[in-house]
Amino acid sequence: MRDATRPESETPGESTQPSLLEDLNELESPATILELESASASASAQISQVVAEAQANPKVAPSPPAPPFIDFEKVSIGFGERKILDEVSFHVGRGQTLCILGRSGVGKSVSLRILLGFLKPDSGCVRVDGQDIGSLDERGLQEVRKHVTMVFQNGALFDSLTVGENIAFPLREKGGLQEDQIQQLVARLLELVGASETVNLLPSSLSTGQKRCIAIARALAAQPEAILYDEPTTMVDPIMGRSIGDLIQRLKLQLGITSIVVTHDMRFAIRLADLVLFLESGTARFFGTIHEFLECTDPHVQQFFTLDAYVVPQPAAV
Ligand SMILES: Nc1ncnc2c1ncn2[C@@H]1O[C@H](COP(=O)(O)OP(=O)(O)OP(=O)(O)O)[C@@H](O)[C@H]1O
Ligand SMILES: [Mg+2]
Repeated sequence: MRDATRPESETPGESTQPSLLEDLNELESPATILELESASASASAQISQVVAEAQANPKVAPSPPAPPFIDFEKVSIGFGERKILDEVSFHVGRGQTLCILGRSGVGKSVSLRILLGFLKPDSGCVRVDGQDIGSLDERGLQEVRKHVTMVFQNGALFDSLTVGENIAFPLREKGGLQEDQIQQLVARLLELVGASETVNLLPSSLSTGQKRCIAIARALAAQPEAILYDEPTTMVDPIMGRSIGDLIQRLKLQLGITSIVVTHDMRFAIRLADLVLFLESGTARFFGTIHEFLECTDPHVQQFFTLDAYVVPQPAAV
């Protein structure tokens, strides 16, 4: 999702860009996730066919593959004597969803904080949209954080602002919107995450799940290109977990938003992931597609499946 809230005069030549409101209308379309997924699968099958045909009959030189939107290259970090990440590499293309899996303390949240420049790696390179974020000062990093936003585990909402004001915050920061437009967008964002009734409440009176939904609405208000989620379904009921999953999937399928989702929930990962990074003892034990992950015979991966109760034990024979 790109910046479309600015007046046309500030974005010459881009007057056909959809506005945030149009994006939100799109997200509220009656199409079910299943319909979207099947449309997306059939579109990718058609694209693969066209690509295969073009490769079989090359007429023009193929264009080079697009660089990944997010690229971790041999990233290492330690705290004191403890090495947390040791030459970890992975990449995510535009519009893809990467799920980061691994046991507690392996460095999943640390990876997200490195990605946003809140932590500096000891070595390695992190690129966002081709730009090495290690070379950026705080101002440059703030610019990156406008395009890549994070939904923290606790929501990280401003405690003294109401829900409505929290969501309006990035809209006001961007500028160029009238108050009634801001209120309209806040209402639509709240509707989208199913929390309209909370608009005048303070974060302290919300449940964990509600805070998470408001944090997603606030992240969306910033119109990011990528959203990072740190355990979006932990401590929420299965129905809310399901609706958060649906929302992440819609954002991908309808708006092309890139997502990185840290989760312990294998079912959630199976539904959402294009790519999986499995961290173990400081290393990227596995990085590849979700299908390759599910077929992975690495004993550490298998053990994770078992610990995560992904493989449901068979009832004992009687
Ligand atoms: N700023 C810091 N200073 C010192 N140690 C830190 C810091 N940040 C993280 N750590 C340590 O790095 C390790 C990895 O932390 P991280 O929060 O990334 O774990 P995680 O994989 O997200 O685990 P969980 O699934 O429990 O959230 C932990 O042992 C943590 O204590
Ligand atoms: Mg964590």
